[in-house]
Amino acid sequence: MEITLKNLCKYFTSKDKEVVKAVDDMNLIIPSGKLVALIGPSGCGKSTTLYMIAGLYEPTHGQILFDNEDITKISPEKRGVGLVFQNYALFPHLTVRQNIMFPLENEIGLKEDKNKLVEDIAKLVNIDALLDRNISELSGGEKQRTAIARALIKKPKVLLLDEPFSNLDARLRLQTREEIRRIQKETGVTTIFVTHDQEEAISISDEIAVMNDGVIQQIGKPIDVYDKPLNLFVAKFLGNPEINVFDGVLNNSKIYLKNNYLSDFDSKDNKDIFVAIRPEGFIVDKIENGFSSIIEQEKGMIKAKVDQVHIIGGETTLVLNNPFKDNSFFKVTISNDLKIEESNIVSLLIKPNKMFIFNKEGDLL
Ligand SMILES: Nc1ncnc2c1ncn2[C@@H]1O[C@H](COP(=O)(O)OP(=O)(O)O)[C@@H](O)[C@H]1O
Ligand SMILES: [Mg+2]
Repeated sequence: MEITLKNLCKYFTSKDKEVVKAVDDMNLIIPSGKLVALIGPSGCGKSTTLYMIAGLYEPTHGQILFDNEDITKISPEKRGVGLVFQNYALFPHLTVRQNIMFPLENEIGLKEDKNKLVEDIAKLVNIDALLDRNISELSGGEKQRTAIARALIKKPKVLLLDEPFSNLDARLRLQTREEIRRIQKETGVTTIFVTHDQEEAISISDEIAVMNDGVIQQIGKPIDVYDKPLNLFVAKFLGNPEINVFDGVLNNSKIYLKNNYLSDFDSKDNKDIFVAIRPEGFIVDKIENGFSSIIEQEKGMIKAKVDQVHIIGGETTLVLNNPFKDNSFFKVTISNDLKIEESNIVSLLIKPNKMFIFNKEGDLL
């Protein structure tokens, strides 16, 4: 089922009569059978969007289409949508089986048939051994699966997951996100999941939509958005460690960091800019022992003193003094093979495809 959001808006009026534009003029197509992540910081309007698609909130303006049919005014039960809330919202006094079966309560049909359905879904999400347990006897991950099973029991055409991993520990998050991807592929259900965690979104989604302040910033395949962020917000939101941002100047098609030539840049504009470079966008050209406190920059490079060396798994992250700004640091990820120590001075070349130039409004140049 393809989902189309057309100029979708949801405004709330707070107690002091201020209008909060939780979702503002949102346009988005979620292709049939795909897994799409809606990502953005807390409060940017992700849950509000899901609740409108589920029919729990009525949009202030705009339309929601399921396969070209306008369902904006259709009641939640008639939409064929399965929703998993962030806190799961399971019934604590019922068993796993009763929870999963709950949406079938008003359906006609034999008890045995319903039980069979529950058992099939439970198998799909790997909780078939737990069906007669109480909810209170489940771990976070098992509750999570129970909630997904309950959302899937009526074979929805659309599955909506609100921060599905937020209550799980790190290892379980990893496992659960792979499992959600598997379940989504097996059932072919069009799925939207919401998260504030970019890593999660990038790893399992067909497409991501990045939101900020109720407005979609960019839509695309995760790798395309990562490699070509259209504004500084998106560039900073995707990637860990966060992208480095230097103050720069564009003059006669050349980029300078505090009077030091960094690279050419084809543009007729002469103005202040942000030079954003991903941590993996540097090549270590030289390593020196640092004695002098003043570092002479060289053309086309950034020379900086290493403040800290963090070895994390198979990678090393260097924290370096930003030579162009006092009390400011930037991060570089390199292979563990390079032996670099604190206080070393490294000369860094820049990979052009890892550097993005933004104007002071934050738009890509
Ligand atoms: N029922 C509500 N009444 C008033 N304001 C709300 C309501 N629900 C959400 N908001 C506001 O709308 C914005 C978006 O909220 P939400 O969709 O929950 O964000 P997210 O899920 O991305 O964290 C926030 O500023 C939030 O305070
Ligand atoms: Mg939310």
